[in-house]
Amino acid sequence: MYHSNSNENDNRRAAIIVARGIVQVVLVLFISFALILVVRRVNFSTLFSQERKESDLRSMSSPPNPDSFVKKISWLVPDIEDVSDPQILYGRELVIHTSKYFSPKGTLETFSNGMNCQNCHLEAGTKAFGNNYAMVASTYPKFRPRSGQIESIEKRVRDCFQRSLNGKAPADSSKEMQAIVSYIKWVGSEVTKEKKPDGTGIYDLPLLERAANPEKGKTIFAQKCVSCHGTNGEGVPNADKTEYTYPPLWGKNSFNTGAGLFRLSRLAGYVRMNMPYGPTFEAMQLTDEEAWDVAAFINIQSRPSMNIKNDWPDISKKPFDHPFGPYADEFSELQHKLGPFGPIKEVAKKK
Ligand code: HEC
Ligand code: HEC
Repeated sequence: MYHSNSNENDNRRAAIIVARGIVQVVLVLFISFALILVVRRVNFSTLFSQERKESDLRSMSSPPNPDSFVKKISWLVPDIEDVSDPQILYGRELVIHTSKYFSPKGTLETFSNGMNCQNCHLEAGTKAFGNNYAMVASTYPKFRPRSGQIESIEKRVRDCFQRSLNGKAPADSSKEMQAIVSYIKWVGSEVTKEKKPDGTGIYDLPLLERAANPEKGKTIFAQKCVSCHGTNGEGVPNADKTEYTYPPLWGKNSFNTGAGLFRLSRLAGYVRMNMPYGPTFEAMQLTDEEAWDVAAFINIQSRPSMNIKNDWPDISKKPFDHPFGPYADEFSELQHKLGPFGPIKEVAKKK
């Protein structure tokens, strides 16, 4: 009895040890398997691809990977083929061929510099990162610190006529203004205020640590821009001079000093994503650095000036790259124009 009892105990003990061993092995296997899964997922798919995207966005030395931008576009433009409303179609025509109607050779008025809205709002304001109108319908009327007022879409369009087109604007009640507004509302008709799609407006370029360098920009301009925009940035009109084949970048027919593109970040972000001009993202050629430098070269050239003394009634709301004082900080006008912008943003954040 005694013997068999102790034998039984021994057997039981052995069985327990074996069972524990098995449990341990299974546990170790399970944990390592889980670990491998975690490591692989985080490291190789999620983290890696995010890192890659980040580095594409921030790349200073190599041209961008077009895929990462294409993936970021989540906004669907409605199909123009489905539109029969003549007001929307006329608005689109005016955005594409503004010059035919409003330039010195215009059929309706002669008060603009001859540029088309589309020169800056690419593909009639529908191109991702091409300064599109995606967010306009859902966000206007809105308060804008530049005017210190609640602005309607009409007011915003008038601004571009007076600044980017360095001219006058058609009356709010005119057929033309109403058509342009209808078209812009149609472009943004699938966009809601709550969910801002990627690729709207102008791309916010990562800041440089240094000031943008017009000297370097001059070289880039000569290599990559001059062939279309001309040695003196004067642009190239079409044969009957009714609009530009290649629009001017500075000089008397260009946008004035009150225009959005006269802010370096707007010009650099626009150029980075869209120039040298090409229909697809595959055509992108510039690095962030080149975009900042070529923008600096363009914006130190002469252009029409505008009286903007009523802009920015609250000077503390001026954006970091607003090129005219007075400022709420101690930085010079030159630094606000060309950078480095990091320190300016730092100070603004602390206020
Ligand atoms: C020289 C370039 C240029 C031309 C030409 C131009 N614009 Fe603009 N437009 C801009 C810039 C730059 C902005 C500001 C974008 C920003 O700050 O992100 C802007 C902003 C706008 C906005 C507001 C967009 C928003 O999301 O708040 C509207 C609407 C607009 N433009 C309409 C027009 C119309 C209509 C025309 C033609 C009559 C026109 N623009 C011509 C450069 C231009
Ligand atoms: C292949 C010809 C071509 C080249 C090269 C080119 N552009 Fe353009 N650019 C255009 C065209 C065309 C437009 C107007 C697009 C439209 O109306 O649809 C334009 C528009 C612009 C605009 C907005 C309108 C204006 O006149 O202010 C800017 C700014 C600009 N280009 C800057 C540049 C810069 C900087 C470079 C060099 C890095 C460059 N472009 C190279 C063809 C070109």
